[in-house]
Amino acid sequence: MRISRIRGAALATAVGALLGAQVAHPALAAPGNPGAPRYSAGAASVGDPYFPDQGNGGFDVKHYDITFTYDPASRHMDATTTITAVATQDMDQFNLDFRGPEITELKVDKHPASFTRDGQELVVTPRPKLKSGQVFTVTVKYAGTPPVITDPDGSIEGWVPTDDGAFVAGEPQGAPAWFPGSDHPTDKATFTFRVTVPEGVTAVGNGQLLSQKTENGTTTFVWDSTEPMATYLATMTIGNFVVNESRTPSGIPVYTAVDPRLVAGSASAVSKIPDMIEYFSSIFGPYPFASTGAIVDRAPNVGYALETQTKPIFSNTASVGTMAHELAHQWYGDSVTPTRWSDIWLNEGFATYATWLWTEHTGGASAQTTFNSSSNYGRAATSSFWQTVLTDPGTVDMFGNVPYNRGAMTLHALRGKIGDTAFFKLIKDWAADNRYGNADTAAFIRSAEKVSGMDLTAFFDVWVFQKGKPSAW
Ligand code: TRP
Ligand code: ZN
Repeated sequence: MRISRIRGAALATAVGALLGAQVAHPALAAPGNPGAPRYSAGAASVGDPYFPDQGNGGFDVKHYDITFTYDPASRHMDATTTITAVATQDMDQFNLDFRGPEITELKVDKHPASFTRDGQELVVTPRPKLKSGQVFTVTVKYAGTPPVITDPDGSIEGWVPTDDGAFVAGEPQGAPAWFPGSDHPTDKATFTFRVTVPEGVTAVGNGQLLSQKTENGTTTFVWDSTEPMATYLATMTIGNFVVNESRTPSGIPVYTAVDPRLVAGSASAVSKIPDMIEYFSSIFGPYPFASTGAIVDRAPNVGYALETQTKPIFSNTASVGTMAHELAHQWYGDSVTPTRWSDIWLNEGFATYATWLWTEHTGGASAQTTFNSSSNYGRAATSSFWQTVLTDPGTVDMFGNVPYNRGAMTLHALRGKIGDTAFFKLIKDWAADNRYGNADTAAFIRSAEKVSGMDLTAFFDVWVFQKGKPSAW
């Protein structure tokens, strides 16, 4: 599933087909036969300036079926991923994003296809060629040890081995470490995972556990992620876990998997999942997915948590504040996802503001007090905190203070500007109107102006588009 840009590309293709005979476009023209296919290569990426190789053009992924065995002791993976996609142009070549181990076989539908690899680009030549609108499958078999990916800020992600399995996280660019696909937030798809590990080891993925079967010393876990998901939110984390299943007060299934060494330290945060989901549902609108939960793993070199869809993942002991942050992301980040990475404040600002609200709701500091604190509005006007543009933090600082804290402050300031009634309607509408899709800052401003009936040009100018510490808004 894919929105805006690719829908635009598909439209351009359709218009091109209609105008075929008149348009002077020698590479694409089919003289005397405007309805005939005009095959070309799908674009190698979607052109997001923060990660210029991410995503692909020419098709839209609908579903990933990711099947593998993994042996924690040898770190060996033996995998088959089948992608179901629909072509959005007549296509004789397309790219996937993949940084995983050696490919032993690649088929498009039933037909072996030739391919080349260059960095994260896997270039596939399907024969027969694909026609626009055609649904096709790409089956990729690969085996070996998937890589750890290092980010612009020096953090690690992708497939991170632990002492009992692997910690698996993909924001902003780790997903191609372990499965081929279209790794940009705008190409969401449903996922099924079928993972076989040694008996006694647990494999935890997004979505609902369909089956768990042990035979001949191995256990196969089948997980089904039934709502559209961006690739960066996929996980299949493996290790020794204490598993607990329950339900929220309103009946949403909760599945938690916690490293035995971290159970005691994380108990307070994990036990609050049902209450957090209830509270956030009351202010953000209905929880967007069929299940919830958390994965608390021990991956000491990672140093961050991630809002993996339906089950956020923690790389060490989970705190209450971080749990609130990651669960709030399920609405803002996972269900509603930025169209471009430069709008990361729409994820991090919302999730950070949600923790301020949770803290106030549970008797701690008010959101206003947090806004005023020395790590927020109290920072000196000369600090880099104020000298960075919120809508362009850069890839090194996209998970730094600016998108998180200034993002949250922007929302709190907006709440003061438009009033509580309009503000809480706005954030509910934002989740409902963009559910399972992508949106950008411009769309948020339009929504804010619509709900409030106010011209907010000056407000957003000082808070999101300009450098400098706002003094009036
Ligand atoms: N989005 C995560 C969160 O806020 C944090 C995160 C994801 C991160 N990937 C990262 C932080 C890479 C630093 C580096 O919960
Ligand atoms: Zn976050």
